[in-house]
Amino acid sequence: MDDFKRSGAEVVMADEEYTLFKDLAYREFGIVIRGDKRLTLQTKLAYRLSLLGLSTYGDYYDRIVNEPSREEMCIFISHITNNETYFLRESSQLNAFAKLLADIKKQKKGLNTVSILSAGCSSGEEVYTLNIMLMESGLFAWGWQVRLIGMDVSRTAIEKAKKAVYSKESFRMMNGSEDFVQKYFDKSDDRYILKKHFQSNVQFIHGNVLLPESLYGINDIDVIFCRNILIYMDDAAVGRIAANFYRHLSDDGYLFVGLSESLLKRTDLFVPEYRDGIIVYRKNPSAYSRT
Ligand SMILES: C[S@@+](CC[C@H](N)C(=O)[O-])C[C@H]1O[C@@H](n2cnc3c(N)ncnc32)[C@H](O)[C@@H]1O
Repeated sequence: MDDFKRSGAEVVMADEEYTLFKDLAYREFGIVIRGDKRLTLQTKLAYRLSLLGLSTYGDYYDRIVNEPSREEMCIFISHITNNETYFLRESSQLNAFAKLLADIKKQKKGLNTVSILSAGCSSGEEVYTLNIMLMESGLFAWGWQVRLIGMDVSRTAIEKAKKAVYSKESFRMMNGSEDFVQKYFDKSDDRYILKKHFQSNVQFIHGNVLLPESLYGINDIDVIFCRNILIYMDDAAVGRIAANFYRHLSDDGYLFVGLSESLLKRTDLFVPEYRDGIIVYRKNPSAYSRT
């Protein structure tokens, strides 16, 4: 029996165990697992169970919550998040971002630093896209301190992002345009390596957008991209994230969320502003005392 249980793949996740994991994902990361995903979760976590030699999913849950280092917590979340991303995602938002750069420069009034956060950056395609655009704009070339930060809760995604090595999958929405790939990547077999020059300015950190400490020391951010994460969260979690961003975004700053996501009716900390056909969010000045 023990041998049977240890093989991981065959161990069944009981309904109560499924509820424990669902609650954990929400409590720690704000992620709402909708519908019945018990079998999906079981399949995703089976390998950990077998690797750690655990007999039940309940044992695995105990292991996650009792480990002081929180290493297994990070591995758990890496297994359940959706990390889908690609270069040049949502051109309408990227065009608006490109146009904002000149305004951001004007708003600086002598200060020569610019900082951009990609929250939930996954394997880095988003933040590298923004860096390429910013560098190509030529607006911050001389005497500027440029800082782009990619942050994600998945350590696997962060490690991949740091390597900056991609496959064709990461270019899937480019409608066959080879120019971008040829200009910014070196090709080696079926791998595309972002040229070192375009990796400069970018750093990656492991963090949870829900937690104030994840953004500790990162202040006066000019632009935050937080796309395709809020869709997995409920209003309470979105409220916590908005409060976190409010504290760390500069008063003149801009917040982009995914095209299918909205902050309207979910928080009043940010107000929408129409820019080049899309919505960007600005800080609501009257909310200052509430954060
Ligand atoms: C679908 S990907 C989106 C990547 C990129 N922003 C884009 O739009 O292409 C969502 C990412 O958010 C990360 N994520 C989910 N919850 C998070 C949290 N609480 N804190 C930080 N990152 C989180 C996931 O690990 C995943 O890499």
